[in-house]
Amino acid sequence: TRAAPVIAIDGPSASGKGTVAARVAAALGFSYLDSGALYRLTALAAKRANVAWDDEAAVAAIAGGLDVVFTESDICLAGVPVGDAIRSEEISAGASKVAALPAVREALLFRQRAFGKAPGLVGDGRDMGSVIFPQASLKVFLTASAEARAERRYKQLIEKGFSANLPDLLSDLQQRDARDSQRSVAPLRQEADAQMLETTHLTIEQAVKQVLDWYAEATAQ
Ligand code: CDP
Ligand code: CDP
Repeated sequence: TRAAPVIAIDGPSASGKGTVAARVAAALGFSYLDSGALYRLTALAAKRANVAWDDEAAVAAIAGGLDVVFTESDICLAGVPVGDAIRSEEISAGASKVAALPAVREALLFRQRAFGKAPGLVGDGRDMGSVIFPQASLKVFLTASAEARAERRYKQLIEKGFSANLPDLLSDLQQRDARDSQRSVAPLRQEADAQMLETTHLTIEQAVKQVLDWYAEATAQ
C-alpha cells in the first residue's frame, strides 16, 4: 500500500503556518499536525516538573513520556486541557530551547510520523519536509517579513487576553528564528524541493488557495 499523502508546511514563527495548515487540512479532509505544540508541551511539562530546559536527558525523558491527546478544540496533557498555557512568550522561548536538543527531537520523531495516516495529513513546523516527512507530496516554506509576523502575533496575543508589546515581540521572534535557523539539528531552512510562499501581502484565503493549487498540481502528475 502507498503511504498516505502529506503536505509539509514549514517556516518561521507567526508566519501563518498553523492557520493555513489547518484550513488546507479541513478543505481536503486530512488531519492536521501542529508539531510546534509538542515542543511547547515539552517545555511546559519540564517547567512544571522543575526540570531545566537545558537538561537534555531529563527533558528528552519528559518529551518521550508526554501523555498528549489532540482534540478538535484543545490539546490535553495528562488528560487536562492546556488551553493557552503553551502560547505565552515564556513557553515559546522554552520550546525553541528544548527543540535545539537532539535527544528531545529524537524522542518526538515517531510520535509525529504516526500522524501520517490515510486519507492524508497536513503538518506544520520547522522540519516537516526535511526530517519528519521527507517523502511529502508537497513541501511549502511559508514566510513573511519579521515586522508582519510580529504584528500578527501581537494581534493574536491581545485577542487571547495576553499582554503584549510589539517591540519586545519582534525581538523575541527574531531571537527565536535565529536559534531555530542556526541550531545543528533540523535547522529551519527552505528545502531545495519546497515551494516558497511569501505571505507578507497575502490574505489567509490567498495563502490557502495557493497551497491547494500546488497540491492539485503535484497530485495531477
Ligand atoms: O503557526 P504560525 O506561528 O506560523 O502562525 P499562525 O498562528 O497560524 O498565524 C499567526 C496569525 O497571523 C494568526 O492570527 C493568523 O490569523 C494571522 N495571519 C494573517 O494575518 N495573515 C496571513 N496571511 C496569515 C496569518
Ligand atoms: O507558532 P510559532 O511558529 O511561533 O511556533 P511553533 O510552531 O509552535 O514552534 C515553537 C518552537 O518549537 C519553535 O520556535 C521551534 O524551536 C520548535 N519547533 C521545532 O523545532 N520543530 C518543529 N517541527 C516545530 C516547532
